[in-house]
Amino acid sequence: MPGAALVLHARYVVRRRLGTREIPRSRIPPAALHSDPGMVKTREADTDQRRLRSLQALEAARARYENLYQDAPDMFASVTVDSERVVQCNATLLRATGFRRNEVIGRRLDDLHDAGCAADLARALDRVRADGRAGDVELRLRRQDGKLLDVSLSMALIRDERQNYYYRSIWRDVTDRKRAEDALRRKQAELERSQAELQALAGRLLTAQDDERRRISRELHDDVNQRLAMLTLDVESLQTRVPRSPRETAERLGVIRDRLVELSDDVHGLAYGLHPSVLDHLGLEAALRSHISDLQRRESIRIELRVGDHVKPLVPEVAACLYRVAQAALRNVVKHARARRVTVDVKPTAGGIRLSVSDDGVGFAGPTRSSAGLGIVGMQERVRLVGGRFELTSQVGEGSCVTVWVPLPEDGAGEKHGETTADPAGG
Ligand SMILES: Nc1ncnc2c1ncn2[C@@H]1O[C@H](COP(=O)(O)OP(=O)(O)OP(=O)(O)O)[C@@H](O)[C@H]1O
Ligand SMILES: [Mg+2]
Repeated sequence: MPGAALVLHARYVVRRRLGTREIPRSRIPPAALHSDPGMVKTREADTDQRRLRSLQALEAARARYENLYQDAPDMFASVTVDSERVVQCNATLLRATGFRRNEVIGRRLDDLHDAGCAADLARALDRVRADGRAGDVELRLRRQDGKLLDVSLSMALIRDERQNYYYRSIWRDVTDRKRAEDALRRKQAELERSQAELQALAGRLLTAQDDERRRISRELHDDVNQRLAMLTLDVESLQTRVPRSPRETAERLGVIRDRLVELSDDVHGLAYGLHPSVLDHLGLEAALRSHISDLQRRESIRIELRVGDHVKPLVPEVAACLYRVAQAALRNVVKHARARRVTVDVKPTAGGIRLSVSDDGVGFAGPTRSSAGLGIVGMQERVRLVGGRFELTSQVGEGSCVTVWVPLPEDGAGEKHGETTADPAGG
């Protein structure tokens, strides 16, 4: 029945010539469909319109695909199988390399890459010929400005609608990843170097400790002990050979007394070097003052000590840390700086205390980590152990400055630990 055929093919809304009103086909009586020739025309017109819409949809899809292709985050190109030349590429490839389209189209695939990557590229092509695809080959693309771009290339053998074969090549820019990997590698190498240095340092610290013990033992045995033995002999000789006159007795006793005073000073010096008791009894400022006056007596150097007001009582470990840092920094000034003036400055700061030792000496370019000395690393380590910060600034010809900041516990914590007191009034 012709009507039935019409009903089968007219799929959607059928337009009647009744103004612009649209009526669904289901609501039109079948008899009207058969009898009204206008209906047939309308159906034909609808079919054309359907084709047109399909074409429009196809065009829109093609444009969408084109946009996706051109602006994809990765670089695309189609490369001929026989001559390995680019026949098509997207805008991303042009933007990334800086070439114009006519500089890329027709170019050989290997010519797009750094010559150093030729072997890797040849291997990738072998694989794509054998397996139909090759993935994630790390290469470098040449840019128009001569720089190289780190990329990862994936290739697949594809066939177009005209049965031509191409290599579809996709490059992904891996510069950021490479940079991150390089940074990671550098950090790892640095870490390994630091670990090796740390091991060497631990060895040096042990040696230094042994040397120090040997020195104290030698001083006690060879020096103090010998001098005591000599004094014993002096006293014995006084006993066995009593001087004839009181004057001679006084003279010989005077010599023994002077030697005893000297010995006492030296033993005191030795004990002070091991641990200055003045630090425990009188505090940081008194200990610094005593150390500085000792140093000035021995060296022709002017050292000024400035202690700020309101320096809080210090727990013993903080006082010991600051004292030892000042001592090591001053030792360095004496040993290396050839300075005329030195300033030791102690100041309370928010939540802590700051100590600096600055000199106007020869300065230096900064310690190398592997330098043989233990002074600077020792200072750093001491400060680290009490949770503080260490800074050393120096420039050749401009003097040096060691600054440390150490946090102080809340008020009252000092008393609990048996604090030492820096007397601000004496500053
Ligand atoms: N105030 C300074 N002026 C000039 N150079 C300095 C000063 N302080 C340190 N240096 C330089 O830094 C190097 C490292 O110092 P560090 O205290 O670590 O070792 P050291 O003094 O050589 O040996 P150690 O302290 O173990 O006896 C010194 O050898 C010196 O070259
Ligand atoms: Mg030193």
